[in-house]
Amino acid sequence: MDPVKLFKMLASIKLPWQPTRSKIGWPRRGQIFLWIIFTSLLLFFCVTLTFNGHVWQMLDSNMHLSEYDDANEGYGLRKLLEDPEARLRQEGLEKRLPQCIIIGVRKCGTRALLEFLNLHPNIKTAGMEMHYFNKDENYDNGYEWYRKYMPFSTSKDITIEKTPRYFISESAPERIFKFNSSIKLIVIFRHPTTRVISDYSQVYENKLERNKSVEPFEKIVIDKRTGRVNTGYKAVRISMYYYHLTQWLLYFRRHQIHIVNGDNLIVNALEEIKKVETFLGLDHAITEENVYFNETRGFYCMKSGNDQHCLGAQKGRKHPDIDPKVIRKLNNFYHPYNRKLFAMIGQEFDWD
Ligand SMILES: *[C@@H]1O[C@H](CO)[C@@H](O)[C@H](O)[C@H]1NC(C)=O
Ligand SMILES: *[C@@H]1O[C@H](CO)[C@@H](O)[C@H](O)[C@H]1NC(C)=O
Ligand SMILES: *[C@@H]1O[C@H](CO)[C@@H](O)[C@H](O)[C@H]1NC(C)=O
Repeated sequence: MDPVKLFKMLASIKLPWQPTRSKIGWPRRGQIFLWIIFTSLLLFFCVTLTFNGHVWQMLDSNMHLSEYDDANEGYGLRKLLEDPEARLRQEGLEKRLPQCIIIGVRKCGTRALLEFLNLHPNIKTAGMEMHYFNKDENYDNGYEWYRKYMPFSTSKDITIEKTPRYFISESAPERIFKFNSSIKLIVIFRHPTTRVISDYSQVYENKLERNKSVEPFEKIVIDKRTGRVNTGYKAVRISMYYYHLTQWLLYFRRHQIHIVNGDNLIVNALEEIKKVETFLGLDHAITEENVYFNETRGFYCMKSGNDQHCLGAQKGRKHPDIDPKVIRKLNNFYHPYNRKLFAMIGQEFDWD
């Protein structure tokens, strides 16, 4: 529309409180109307910009990174005027690819470890297990796809991703080496027999919930014909740590891999956490203030500020009673693998 015409049209609008013949010379009727619109718009923008400034100051001083995401969903006005990610980048916040990956092992306390580490101000953890290096359909999406799922971090922070499945994946070691040959890796081990039982218990409970029949542990783990440990059972194979870790040491040097004692993490969380902080080159920021032992549950819970947080009910479940003979059989089965593992990593665990 022709702006001159528009102006004339607006200028000729009769304001309701004015008599038909205006006695004022200048500004004339419609022009008053225009001025009102103009000044309100100006006022609106001034208020909006000032308000936004305050919002950002609040964010900078009080909020954790995770809350930036929540903030992005609200404040419609700010979102209209500014691209939140651009603003975060200005503050030095970016989504960075992980400099450290927790590669396993399933049922050894990887979730607990990640949540403990998340209490450190310089550790930023990815919210979900990415299965990026083990699943072709994810890996084929490229690093930028992977990065999109990473948390915001500053250049001083360390980004950590955890996917326990990597440990037993054939493709993950080489792909991670290609990704970053000097990356830091964390593995957490529990007593191999305890791990098998824990693995079984989870599957057992899931099946019970769906009213599916489950075979007793003893029947699955021991081959009835031979009376020997059934290595066809996947849970048994996962606990043969020596075999899997060998695949990683084909690519990575020993000092790049930190091994957490998962049994000790349960009873002595801080001791294990401090070692990880040292491995990552961070100061010891996670202290007695952040964790407490919950007697009822039999393991540590976390707190930061007024927030208390225990792992979900499905974690740290009680294991079913198992025939001691079967446990002894499993321990004997794992014994030689354990010895080879200890020799390979130059570290021993109390697994006998
Ligand atoms: C690779 O990982 C190391 C160890 O975390 C880190 O210092 C380095 O910046 C990473 N390299 C790249 C290109 O991200
Ligand atoms: C499982 O069986 C119980 C009792 O037989 C029944 O009450 C329940 O609804 C069933 N659950 C499912 C998921 O089918
Ligand atoms: C310990 O855990 C139980 C079960 O999750 C919970 O009900 C209880 O409040 C916790 N105790 C403390 C002291 O936090």
